[in-house]
Amino acid sequence: MGKILVTGASGYIGGRLVPELLARGYKVRVMVRAPSPAYQELWPDVEIVAADALNLDQLEDALKDIDTAYYLIHSLLLGRREFAAADIQAAINFRIAAEKNRIRRIIYLGGLGDTRSELSSHLQSRIQVAQELSKGEVPVTALRAAVIIGSGSASYEIIQNLVRKLPVIFIPRWAMTKCQPIAIRDVIKYLVGVLEITETSGASFDIGGSDVLSYYDMLKIRAELLNRKRLFIPFFSFLPLYSYTGAFFTPVPAPITRALIEGLKNEVVCQDNTIRQYLPFTPLTYKEAIIRAMNREEQDRIHTRWSDAYPPAHELALKLYELKDGPRYTNTYSLPTPKDAAALFRCICAIGGKEGWFSNNWVWRLRGTIDKLLLGVGATRGRKSQSTLRINDVIDYWRVEDLQKNCRLLLRAEMKLPGKAWLEFKIQDEGRQRRLSIIAYYQPQNFFGKVYWYAFLPFHQFLFNDLIRQIEKRSQDQAEIP
Ligand SMILES: NC(=O)c1ccc[n+]([C@@H]2O[C@H](COP(=O)([O-])OP(=O)(O)OC[C@H]3O[C@@H](n4cnc5c(N)ncnc54)[C@H](OP(=O)(O)O)[C@@H]3O)[C@@H](O)[C@H]2O)c1
Repeated sequence: MGKILVTGASGYIGGRLVPELLARGYKVRVMVRAPSPAYQELWPDVEIVAADALNLDQLEDALKDIDTAYYLIHSLLLGRREFAAADIQAAINFRIAAEKNRIRRIIYLGGLGDTRSELSSHLQSRIQVAQELSKGEVPVTALRAAVIIGSGSASYEIIQNLVRKLPVIFIPRWAMTKCQPIAIRDVIKYLVGVLEITETSGASFDIGGSDVLSYYDMLKIRAELLNRKRLFIPFFSFLPLYSYTGAFFTPVPAPITRALIEGLKNEVVCQDNTIRQYLPFTPLTYKEAIIRAMNREEQDRIHTRWSDAYPPAHELALKLYELKDGPRYTNTYSLPTPKDAAALFRCICAIGGKEGWFSNNWVWRLRGTIDKLLLGVGATRGRKSQSTLRINDVIDYWRVEDLQKNCRLLLRAEMKLPGKAWLEFKIQDEGRQRRLSIIAYYQPQNFFGKVYWYAFLPFHQFLFNDLIRQIEKRSQDQAEIP
């Protein structure tokens, strides 16, 4: 078979699919909007192409010499006013580019939902994308799934964060709606399985796990597995309240939480099981899927998470070195130290996530909470891995912009701010000693942005001076950062 294209490779499903295809010996090209060295590092044998599905020319190039393409794109992060139109346009472009390149097949993963009922805008959009892709000459295999259970999946994160953080959970009427969740392992099996069975070309299949449950059941099972006693209280159905609660208590961005919660009113259960004739394995139950996801989390081996992809196209964000005249405000906190650069750097690279910020953690958390209240990213994104750090990784409400071993870590702020901010950790040789510095950079957006800088200056003074002392003190015996 020729080359396989995986679109949405930076996303949750795409990130899980690529290693499976490689393990099975396929030649793979991945399509991302903004390429970064991290992809090549993650998948050294993969060809990486940069293309936006909203740009037809780029798509045509991305699909050149492709045999089969996986379509794993959605634009939920754009918010409810924009995502549906963007998703339809992307599907139209993809169909045209696929036809022009005469590719053999498109495999699309969309959402379950009964088209005869009034579907949420997200589920409707998923079905319209399948229809749009299928209008062309290239046969489409459409798989339709409900909630996907796996570490890093948005739905899984919402359930698990609500159960972990809330002792009392209010249950609206639509929490009784039936759903057929499926394990990520089984989704990948189906995605790869249909590729290998040509008879599945040009058909649509419902895929689901081994049990049908209500969302209430799913919350209860999750609480049991976490060993948490939770009080579930019936409550009235007021969508904005639940989407706000979801966005506030979970690391999932508000536009995604809203779209998913809006979809809870729709039953998402497989209407036919034809897929089992072609791929007759027994899928995992919800409980088994959760247990697998918990193990995966503990192993700290998660390759992609939806939160990595938020804000959308973050790789295209303005970089510090791209500021024409440099940042307007800069503040440096530094101290001399006899400690080894490698030890200092290891300690710097351990900040955030479960480890916290070494001291005054409540202040960092408070800043995250304020950001969450404003429906920003907040601090709950944590870190993908506590043991490794790469460019573009998330650390709470920061993202790694630059990382130079034993020398520099530059973080870009992704919280809601009236300007743009960066935090740099720097280690320089100074004779026999080292100079350890933390530098805060800020570019205000408007007058309020300037007020913000001066208002927070005393807090920064206290916070960064303390942080630098803590890094210096703790710089020893840390685990090696690759
Ligand atoms: N996850 C679930 O629970 C679930 C359940 C049922 C069905 N599905 C379906 O599975 C598919 C993949 O979902 P997912 O969970 O993997 O989504 P995801 O993690 O949100 O990833 C979405 C991907 O789409 C890409 N994308 C968005 N706009 C694009 C554009 N204009 N051009 C090129 N790429 C673009 C994003 O790239 P950037 O990094 O550049 O933003 C990202 O890689 C979707 O069709 C979804 O409906 C998912």
